[in-house]
Amino acid sequence: MTARPTALTDVRPTVADPAAVRRADAVLERQRGRESSARTYARSFPIVPARAHGMTVEGTDGRRYLDCLSGAGTLALGHNHPIVLEAVQRTLTSGAPLHVLDLATPEKDAFTDALFATLPSGFADRARIHFCGPTGTDAVEAAFKLMQTATGRRGLLAFTGAYHGMTAGALAASGGVTTKQPVPGIAADVTRLPYPYSYRCPFGVGGEHGAQLSARYTERLLDDPNGGVVPPAAMIVEAVQGEGGAVPAPDAWLREMRRITAERGIPLIADEVQTGVGRTGAFWAVEHSGIVPDAMVMSKAIGGSLPLAVIVYHEDYDGWLPGAHTGTFRGNTLAMAAGTATLRYVAKEGLAERAAAVGAAMTARLEALSSQLPAIGDVRGRGLMIGVELVDPEAEPDACGARPAAPRIAAQVRAACLERGLIVELGGRYDSTARLLPPLTVTDEQVEAVLDRLTDAIASVTAARLAGAQA
Ligand SMILES: Cc1ncc(COP(=O)(O)O)c(C=O)c1O
Repeated sequence: MTARPTALTDVRPTVADPAAVRRADAVLERQRGRESSARTYARSFPIVPARAHGMTVEGTDGRRYLDCLSGAGTLALGHNHPIVLEAVQRTLTSGAPLHVLDLATPEKDAFTDALFATLPSGFADRARIHFCGPTGTDAVEAAFKLMQTATGRRGLLAFTGAYHGMTAGALAASGGVTTKQPVPGIAADVTRLPYPYSYRCPFGVGGEHGAQLSARYTERLLDDPNGGVVPPAAMIVEAVQGEGGAVPAPDAWLREMRRITAERGIPLIADEVQTGVGRTGAFWAVEHSGIVPDAMVMSKAIGGSLPLAVIVYHEDYDGWLPGAHTGTFRGNTLAMAAGTATLRYVAKEGLAERAAAVGAAMTARLEALSSQLPAIGDVRGRGLMIGVELVDPEAEPDACGARPAAPRIAAQVRAACLERGLIVELGGRYDSTARLLPPLTVTDEQVEAVLDRLTDAIASVTAARLAGAQA
């Protein structure tokens, strides 16, 4: 196994060597010139990562960052965890074929065992797994196709604020208008339902009442003979919206969605691509509410930082013909080995429980901070999926007490975090929510450093604004 570079465990801020900074800038400049205009994270984070360990990323210029993006929630164990490296190296030296289409392999067998051992009770006994092309979006497409085939229906129910991926069906089911608008007709078969986003409640009431209204609206719309919704093939839902800004759905609301769909014969798909593998404080986010969905979509952390995506679903829906959802890269041996090691480690070390405890403590600290920093409009999330919504502190609050989103402040906070050695990405409405997705292995010392850097970044951005306004 490769020796762990001790410097990467040091959380102190770093100073870069000017010559190395110039070399890194040249790489960034070349990439900017050659990569597509659709590149995303590379715009927000002008870093050229050279080494990484745990929560720390080091650029070629020697600067180190605490990574609260974790590959958009992929890195449950952080970067290059020793058990992941060991599984990858063991598989590499074993001579196992790295590419096998979807043939049976010992690695696939072990991965399926490890995954099924984590499934919510009542689901694993009669579950089937399908290995998809190795991205969350392909697994979302597979889930839609599975349910469309099983029901003979086409339409989908999806929620405001949702994110399910970038291929046609997944994009259609997602909420983001800017990515859909340039693609004519993309969302033709999707009925949009209100997600219970308490801070910006679609009904203007917030809290439990807002969630109850969302459930009532959903039920009445589906039963209204003139409501315009033909019986759909499925409902897709995130128990905590990730890209949507770390918005958790109340458990009671999710149970209502289960009841409403079950009573009407509508399959319920839980998109656990970002919430899975302990992130929200339970192994799978649906477990908080106790619901059993008809299908679960999984990717990101299940591959232990390598590409892997699957759907797991009740065998009753398994009406596919052979080859109904095929793809060349459905047998990624290394990802299965890394994923097996990760799933077992998260379960054995109780990392979901740790995510619940550390996440609750971080959320409480951030909530307390909001009274001193009025640019913090809302702090929310579940486990280590935390959102800090940044708002215009000088604007009047609406009837629910929410101030307007502040995308400029949020972008300045992201940049100020980066200057302080902290990688935090934005999401949610108007990209105004700072999303904290540290690895489940985050240490207490790292938590302190994250909170200090974020607090300092928000305080300095708001102080600079105030100074600018008074000048
Ligand atoms: C909930 C959810 N579903 C689906 C996806 C799409 O996954 P991928 O980017 O691997 O296609 C994402 C990605 O962020 C996600 O958060």
